[in-house]
Amino acid sequence: MATIKCIGILTSGGDAPGMNAAIRAVTRSAISHGFSVKGIMRGYKGLITNEIIEFRSQSVSNIIQLGGTILKTARCQEFTTPEGRRLAYDNMRAAGIDALVVIGGDGSLTGASIFAQEFDVPIIGLPGTIDRDLGGTDHTIGYDTALNTIMESVDKLRDTASSHERLFFVEVMGHTAGYLALNSALASGAEAAIIPEMETEVDQLAELINHGFRKSKNSAIVIVAENPETGGATGLAERVKKEFPQYDARVTILGHLQRGGSPTSRDRILASRMGNAAVEAILDGQRNVMIGIENGKLTYVPFSKAIKHRKAIDRDVLELVKILSI
Ligand code: F6P
Repeated sequence: MATIKCIGILTSGGDAPGMNAAIRAVTRSAISHGFSVKGIMRGYKGLITNEIIEFRSQSVSNIIQLGGTILKTARCQEFTTPEGRRLAYDNMRAAGIDALVVIGGDGSLTGASIFAQEFDVPIIGLPGTIDRDLGGTDHTIGYDTALNTIMESVDKLRDTASSHERLFFVEVMGHTAGYLALNSALASGAEAAIIPEMETEVDQLAELINHGFRKSKNSAIVIVAENPETGGATGLAERVKKEFPQYDARVTILGHLQRGGSPTSRDRILASRMGNAAVEAILDGQRNVMIGIENGKLTYVPFSKAIKHRKAIDRDVLELVKILSI
């Protein structure tokens, strides 16, 4: 294997709190091991348009606390084509980059896996996504911050729900995964969580809501994972309004609020440990793996296991939401 002297870093897909902490950790860990570092702007797009900049230790000063990503990010259609990837490879080599650290979610690591195989490029992935929908890891960078943002928002909505005796459907992100919905429901004491991993018929939903109201509660909050197929919170609220007009139902869609904000300590620590581990992985001769964390220990997860193999939803947690909301 050719000697690696220069590491390129990029962030791709949806931004996630803690990406900056990861950029900082990769940069400083790489420099401390004698590598040179280049920052690639706007994800894979920057490889294609040749927006590549020299990174020094000071380039990542004072960013650990910032949400978003100083490298910017994008979802790059051109990189899904062989011509786009060829251009990306040529620019990467011309910039002297020997290995890449890609920080992103499922789609970004899928792109990394294809690119690595096509051009024999050593790539290490870091799981940067609020969705937590990657295999081989208990956590992803950004998930904890998003979870806390949702919890704080639901705490606020609870005031109105209880004052007006209303039923609130709160829609949260998660792409096709229900982790954010499920765990934010538990953390905020919601009456129910509606997640894509479970079929929810309207009568089941009504049973859940009745369960909440029956216990002399004057309000209910149902967390709903986004779902274009069912129409998410809006779709559910419409169905409930039609069949159970006695409820004063409202919808709140939290949207991109969930992706912003200063990362929690948990996300900063995770990003710092994983960023350092990415550089150690390169030193170890690893390639085409994502850094994961299981039971507190950092692991190497082959891209093939990380992509499209997310952990199963814990149904006991769903049951617990119900038990604890009586
Ligand atoms: O993957 C992160 C995520 O926020 C998903 O939860 C959501 O489905 C999607 O990105 C939204 O993407 P965009 O910001 O491109 O609308």
